[in-house]
Amino acid sequence: MNILRFTDLAAQGKATGQRVFIRADLNVPQDDAGNITEDTRIRASVPCIRQALEAGAAVMVTSHLGRPTEGQFKPEDSLAPVARRLGELLGREVPLVSNWVDGVDVKPGQVVLLENCRLNKGEKKNDEALARKLAALTDIYVNDAFGTAHRAEATTYGIAQFAKVACAGPLLAAEIDAITKALADPKRPLVAIVAGSKVSTKLTILESLAGKVDQLIVGGGIANTFMLAAGLPIGKSLAEPDLQDQARAVIEAMRARGAAVPIPVDVVTAKSFAADAPATVKDAAAVAEDDLILDIGPKTAAQLAAQLREAGTIVWNGPVGVFEFDAFSKGTEAIARAIADSSAFSIAGGGDTLAAIAKYGIENQVGYISTGGGAFLEVLEGKTLPAFEILEKRAG
Ligand code: 3PG
Repeated sequence: MNILRFTDLAAQGKATGQRVFIRADLNVPQDDAGNITEDTRIRASVPCIRQALEAGAAVMVTSHLGRPTEGQFKPEDSLAPVARRLGELLGREVPLVSNWVDGVDVKPGQVVLLENCRLNKGEKKNDEALARKLAALTDIYVNDAFGTAHRAEATTYGIAQFAKVACAGPLLAAEIDAITKALADPKRPLVAIVAGSKVSTKLTILESLAGKVDQLIVGGGIANTFMLAAGLPIGKSLAEPDLQDQARAVIEAMRARGAAVPIPVDVVTAKSFAADAPATVKDAAAVAEDDLILDIGPKTAAQLAAQLREAGTIVWNGPVGVFEFDAFSKGTEAIARAIADSSAFSIAGGGDTLAAIAKYGIENQVGYISTGGGAFLEVLEGKTLPAFEILEKRAG
């Protein structure tokens, strides 16, 4: 992808003394008291900010937090906790600036955090007048917010249209590079794991990947619908019987290309959805009417693990079982360990997937862990994200 990169501009001395506006995604989870419960996105945003400071730029950083009502500030919408955490990570105070659209006082070598950009009227709708005002604040606009790259808002799109220079920060660039390596130019075989509770929420992803990947491993409720489509009994497991035809079409599309959707040969079942429900391993053909399928079985896990070890590229979105319950976690663990052992380039994304990676401690053995939730899913759907599109246009 042809885009300008902030790392290159900084190395060429082009950021020195310049006003640099960084759109980060600092949308982190918080508890009821406002404490940050998971700070990956803040930590991932630090390298870009450091680069800008070390280049001697006057640095403005902003992000959205949640989905506030524009023009109506409420304390829970404030980036104040993020400013504190960012300050700890940078080892310097990070002042938080409110009402910043008409001007920001910041000098070279300083960094300020601009309050929740979704409080500005016109942000969500990418209002042109707002975007032009934001662009006027800066010499260099840097988009480093992959998590928000699927949104065309004033700080992710409009500002990039009107700023003197628009480029990608190191995090956004790393995401683009990893996605390109995994999907645009993959080493084969390319294996994708798409798991989750519903086919309906991931149908476009399954359809898009069916045209690209060599093996499409399905898991969770999605696998149940595929098992149903393959004529297997699934008892009272979570599934969408109405979507069997679509599942069959995915299987057929893969088969026509000489590719495959591996259907589980065995499963782990229980009579109720509970952590202490007794778990039974059985053949996929032997699922009883009152069974719930809560994980793939050991034979299936071994088969899939072997395929993952042979893969050239792996894309992982979603755990294949109820991995939060120990009795039903073995399938997801086997997949995670196989990805960790594989020499394939692997990319993983999505909230539950990240939780599974953390549970099995394989962070350092995954090629790239995406910070995107919805953005990562849209990439898998084969969509061009607005943030990428405008940066490419500006570079062209
Ligand atoms: C996310 O958490 O996925 C991103 O920060 C995007 O948030 P949004 O769905 O509110 O645009």
